This record gives sequence, C-alpha cells and structure tokens, in this order.
Amino acid sequence: MSINVLGISTSPRIKGNSDLLLRRALAGSESAGANTEYLRLPDYKINPCIECNACYKTGTCALQDDYQQLLEKILNADRLIFATPIFFMSVCAQAKMLIDRGQCLWAHKYVLKKGAITPGKDRRAMVIAVGGSKSKKQFESIRLTMKSYFDSLQVHYTANLFISKIDAKGDIEKHPSALNEAYRLGGQLAAADSSPPEKPIDIELF
Ligand SMILES: Cc1cc2nc3c(=O)[nH]c(=O)nc-3n(C[C@H](O)[C@H](O)[C@H](O)COP(=O)(O)O)c2cc1C
Repeated sequence: MSINVLGISTSPRIKGNSDLLLRRALAGSESAGANTEYLRLPDYKINPCIECNACYKTGTCALQDDYQQLLEKILNADRLIFATPIFFMSVCAQAKMLIDRGQCLWAHKYVLKKGAITPGKDRRAMVIAVGGSKSKKQFESIRLTMKSYFDSLQVHYTANLFISKIDAKGDIEKHPSALNEAYRLGGQLAAADSSPPEKPIDIELF
C-alpha cells in the first residue's frame, strides 16, 4: 500500500517561497512512490479558537467551518509536510489559526485521556520554514510550536528544513540546494521501511 503524504501550504503568498519548497518536497515523496495531496490553507475558511473549552468535554471542536474537513485530511494522511513563512519570528497567522484549533486534540489527549486518535497508524510530519533575515533565532519559536502541535496530533516530528535570507517572492528558485534538500527530505519522509528519528533532523541553510 502506498504512503499518503499531505502537504499544507500556509503562506498567504501564492507560489511563495515556502510553497515552492513544499511542492519540491511533495515531488520527492512522489518519486519515492507516495500518493500526494497539496492544499493551500488560505483557500479554507478557518476561524480562530475562541477558547470556549467545549472540547474539554467532547474532544471535538464546536466551531463549524472548514476545520472539520481539514482535520479529517490531516488524520488520514500517513505523512504531513507543513510549510510556513516566518512572520515576526513565528509561523504565519494562517498556520497559527489551524494550530490553535488543535486544542480539541490536546483536550482529547490530556483532559479526556482518550488515548490514540489513529490507533496503530505510523504517522509522521516535517516542517518547512523560510525567513527573510539571517538570524538563526527566527526558527526557535517554530520548533516549540510545531513540537507542541505535533504532540497533540500524535505524529512523529521527523525533520525541519529551515531556510534563511530568502525574502522576495520566488527567491527560493535561486537556491538550488534548498530545493534539492526539500526533494530529498520529501522522499525520505515517504520511505515506509525506515524508523522515525528520536528527534527531528535539522537542515538549516542560508
Ligand atoms: C508580516 C511579515 C512578517 C515577517 N517577519 C519576519 C521575521 O520575523 N523574520 C524573518 O526572517 N522574515 C520575516 N518576514 C519575511 C518572510 O519570512 C519572507 O519574505 C519569506 O520568504 C516569506 O515566505 P513565503 O514566500 O513562503 O510567504 C516577514 C514577512 C511578513 C510579510
């Protein structure tokens, strides 16, 4: 059976830098024999978490919008590739809105102690992030936020591809090693027979 890889592009910029890297990573996954699906998060209607805490009783989110169909896709995928630009040292607002809606998964796990959401499934995820500045610190917040989100999603966090000093739209096209790494990591993520690493592999390029 083929591995299903879901790529989530969160940038508001159509065909932006993180988006182009995500597409390369998905091409790498396909070359490794995976089925891939790409989605652009800004095309979905998602509201922010309103902290109603209804999920503390049910384990599901009470807000009705496109989140329910997104969550179904996320949980059905064997592998996730989550791509974001760096905005003010963190993920972009579109990404954060999706992440915060994961509070229902956190409640499922830590409040209701309901156990595995996809029992027996080997789910894994990697992150692609692109920032305009040369500061290495811009990725610190991403690591923590994504670890927390992936813990709630109950997926293994396998890799980070962090690219600095890429600012203007399309500049990533002039960075062949970043595109090559995206392709390679996408292929590696889709490999069914490998074990997930204990902690995420970091690839940081300038
Ligand atoms: C609102 C906003 C905030 C940003 N904040 C940062 C930042 O904190 N650090 C940084 O390195 N780049 C920052 N940038 C630059 C983007 O990360 C950079 O342009 C990146 O290439 C955008 O990726 P994208 O094309 O995938 O959207 C910011 C850009 C915007 C629009």
